[in-house]
Amino acid sequence: MKIKKAIFPVAGLGTRFLPATKAQPKEMLPLLDKPIIQYGVEEAAESGIEQMIFVTAQGKHSIENHFDSAAELEKILEEKGKTELLEKVRASSNLGKFVYVRQKQPPMGLGHAVLMAEELIPEDYFAVILPDDVMNCETPCLKQMNEVFEKVNGGIIAVEKTDEAGQERYGIVKVEPTDNPKLHKIVDIVEKPGSQNAPSNLAVMGRYILPKKIFEILKKTERGAGGEIQLTDAIKELLKTENFYAYEYSGERLDAGEVAGYIKAQVKLALQREDTRGEIEEFISSIKIEK
Ligand code: UTP
Repeated sequence: MKIKKAIFPVAGLGTRFLPATKAQPKEMLPLLDKPIIQYGVEEAAESGIEQMIFVTAQGKHSIENHFDSAAELEKILEEKGKTELLEKVRASSNLGKFVYVRQKQPPMGLGHAVLMAEELIPEDYFAVILPDDVMNCETPCLKQMNEVFEKVNGGIIAVEKTDEAGQERYGIVKVEPTDNPKLHKIVDIVEKPGSQNAPSNLAVMGRYILPKKIFEILKKTERGAGGEIQLTDAIKELLKTENFYAYEYSGERLDAGEVAGYIKAQVKLALQREDTRGEIEEFISSIKIEK
């Protein structure tokens, strides 16, 4: 079985970027010349996802517009012979089928956002992509997970080795080994346990392959940390009956969901791109820090 649908929860308030996100979605902030959300959608398209399900909210229309065609703009670019730009503009509307559902404000958490897409998923398994996590991988992260999924047929969570600071900040999985050193069977999952209580150094990143059974669990999941319905709490419950695996993908996660991480992501991506690398390298080495 192949995963064909991905849920993109984009209904959050983006408070860590206020006031920049007062009147525009965090997911539309640019990383170089593309909005953050486009990196996740491109990854999904390259991983065989055909339908992109956005869980959106008030004030998020620009996301819908970005993945639609822009006839007027395309006409102007065409008339001016700006072929390269025209291709870039068209590319974002050719990445798959887009479907939108809404999560009422105020947003009640990631678990609640995922539940909003229940009726669109008759399939046994689907993917969830958190767009803040930009996966910088040679083979798209979800594609790597899809390949593993075809062998194990269970839930899969992308994980990355972390340090003490990460154990304070992320969900951490407790695992048992499998034959594949990069694949671990999950026995427990704990949200932000801190280094004292962390059951491992494997941190949950924003890519999941989940069984549709999670919807039933989410309906019964009470508000947890931060007064929100947490996806982690539902996964924890599901572990009692379902097989779940943690997969250490090849590549790295760029955290574009908070200010410092966003700047690091900009620099990293600029250094990877031929047309920006030289200038940015020169700029970085020329910076004089005055304290
Ligand atoms: P985040 O916690 O990173 O996003 O959730 P946020 O809540 O918008 O940002 P802060 O913490 O206030 O700065 C990860 C993803 O889940 C979505 C967000 O839009 C983001 O893409 N999300 C979160 C929802 O769709 N609904 C929610 O209720 C919560």
